[in-house]
Amino acid sequence: MTAPLKTLLIGFGGIAHGLAADDRMAKWFPVATHIQALEQNPNFQLIGIVDPDPHARAIAVSDWETEAFETVQAAAALDPDVIVFATPPGKRTDALATFPSIKGVVVEKPLGGDDGRHLIETCDARDFPVQVNYWRRGDATLQALATGDLKNRIGAFQAGHALYGNGLANNGSHLVDMIRMLLGEPIWVQALGDAKSVHQSPITDDVHVSFALRFDDGTCVSAHPVDFTKYREVSLDLWGTQGRLSFMQETLDIRHFDTAPNRGLNDAFEIASDAGTLLSSTVTSALPNLYENLSAAINGKAALLSTGQSALRTETIIEHIKLSANQDGERLDVKMGAK
Ligand SMILES: NC(=O)c1ccc[n+]([C@@H]2O[C@H](COP(=O)([O-])OP(=O)(O)OC[C@H]3O[C@@H](n4cnc5c(N)ncnc54)[C@H](O)[C@@H]3O)[C@@H](O)[C@H]2O)c1
Repeated sequence: MTAPLKTLLIGFGGIAHGLAADDRMAKWFPVATHIQALEQNPNFQLIGIVDPDPHARAIAVSDWETEAFETVQAAAALDPDVIVFATPPGKRTDALATFPSIKGVVVEKPLGGDDGRHLIETCDARDFPVQVNYWRRGDATLQALATGDLKNRIGAFQAGHALYGNGLANNGSHLVDMIRMLLGEPIWVQALGDAKSVHQSPITDDVHVSFALRFDDGTCVSAHPVDFTKYREVSLDLWGTQGRLSFMQETLDIRHFDTAPNRGLNDAFEIASDAGTLLSSTVTSALPNLYENLSAAINGKAALLSTGQSALRTETIIEHIKLSANQDGERLDVKMGAK
C-alpha cells in the first residue's frame, strides 16, 4: 500500500468540522465534513489545520489532536501532499504558493470570481487535480442519472423548474451545477426580475434572483429563490416526454413519476404525480466518494468527478445571471463548447 496523502485543512469552521455536531445532518450525512471524510479514508492522513480564529484552532487541538496554525506560512514546513480549502473564496492562490509539494487539492464551492479562476489556473499549470465540493457529483444515484438513467426514466427532457435559497453563489451554485450535471451545458441565461441582496449567505455580496437557463434544443429550466428562514429547499423538477423526476428536500428525496391514462379525458395521458417511486438515496457516500476519487486521480487511476474547469463553468453561469439582472434581464450567451 502507498503511503497516505499528508493533508492540510485550511479553514476550520462549519464544513471543515462543525456541521458534524448537527444530529439531523448526521442522519443523512454521517460524513458531512472534511475532517470526517479524511478520518475515515486510509488514503489520507490529516497533518494539521490552518485558521486565524484561535477558538477554531483550540478545537482542532483538543478534539482532533492535530497541529493548528494561524497562517499557511506557519505551516510551510509540513510539506502537505493535499490541501483542503474549507474557507469562503479569497486569497487561496497565495496559500498554494507556500506548498511546492502539493499533489492534489479539494476546494469548497463556490469558486468565487477572480480568486477561483486564478486558483484553477494555478492548479492546472502545476498539473495536479482539484476536486470542487459540489458533493452531488459524488452521489452514485445522480451519477447514474447523469450518464443515461435520466433519459431512460423520463424520455426527452421538456421543461424544468427549480428552487434555491441562502444566496445564488452559495446554494444557487449547487443548483446550477446539478442542472449542468443532469442536463448538460446551457447556451444562454436570463435573470427574471431584479437581484436582491441576501444577508444570510456566507458569501460576500450574494444575491437572490429568479433566472432561466436555456439549452441548445430550446428547452429551459427556470429557478426561483425562497427564504431559508422559513424553510430550506434546493429542488429540481424535470418533466420529460415519458415521465417526471423530482429532486426534493435538497436532493434527499428523488422520485420518479410515470405517465398514466389521463383521469379527465379519453385518449390522453398525464404524469402520475400522486404515485411516484422513490429512488434509493446514496447521499451518504457523496463526500467520501469525492475523496476516494481524488486519491485515485492523484495516482492516475481515475478521472476527477468534480473538476475545477467544470466548477468554473458553473461560476461563469452564476456571474452571467447576476450580469443579466444588472442589465434589466438581458439574455446572455454562455455557450462554452463541449465539456
Ligand atoms: N459543499 C457544501 O455543501 C458546503 C456546505 C457548507 C459550506 N460550504 C462552503 O464552505 C465554505 C466555508 O463555509 P463554512 O460554513 O464552513 O464557513 P465558516 O465561517 O463556518 O468557516 C470558515 C472558516 O474559515 C476560516 N478562514 C477564513 N479565512 C481563512 C484563511 N484565509 N485561512 C484559513 N482559514 C480561514 C474562518 O476563520 C472560519 O473558521 C463556504 O464557501 C461555503 O459556501 C459548502
